[in-house]
Amino acid sequence: MNEVVKELQLPWHGDERGKLIALEALTDLVPFEVKRVYYIFDTTPGTVRGKHAHKVLKQLLICVSGACTIECEMPDGTKTEYRLDWPDRGLLIEGIIWRQMKEFSKDAVLLVLASEPYDEADYIRSYNEFKRLSAISLIGRRYEEH
Ligand code: TYD
Repeated sequence: MNEVVKELQLPWHGDERGKLIALEALTDLVPFEVKRVYYIFDTTPGTVRGKHAHKVLKQLLICVSGACTIECEMPDGTKTEYRLDWPDRGLLIEGIIWRQMKEFSKDAVLLVLASEPYDEADYIRSYNEFKRLSAISLIGRRYEEH
């Protein structure tokens, strides 16, 4: 699977009453069947969560209240930080990407839509293992290019 980290501007329906965002599975915004939803809240100040990659899981992250930062490290070592600070910002993550969630505001609620049920076997929790798998996938990709 190719690695994808994509920032999404989620379209909202707005009128004098306020705004509403609707997300449907198997669309451009949510390009997978949603099999699980979870949310992270009441985060202790200074906490860094995540620190893992997934083998097949696809996720869409939205900070529906407050703000937090998602740091993604790609298999080639490139690291990018994404600040999610408004409910119309989404971050789509697919493939073997090392992620950390940090800098949570007190009122942060990080909503995650996921393509698979919870499965500990899908986690890569060792950073060394992430680097090892990244090296293998980069070599494989270079081989395919020739
Ligand atoms: P953990 O993987 O530490 O969360 P994070 O990625 O945010 O650092 O998960 C915390 C606990 O919650 C851990 O015991 C596993 C459990 N959990 C579930 O039972 N189901 C889920 O869908 C998730 C994401 C976690």
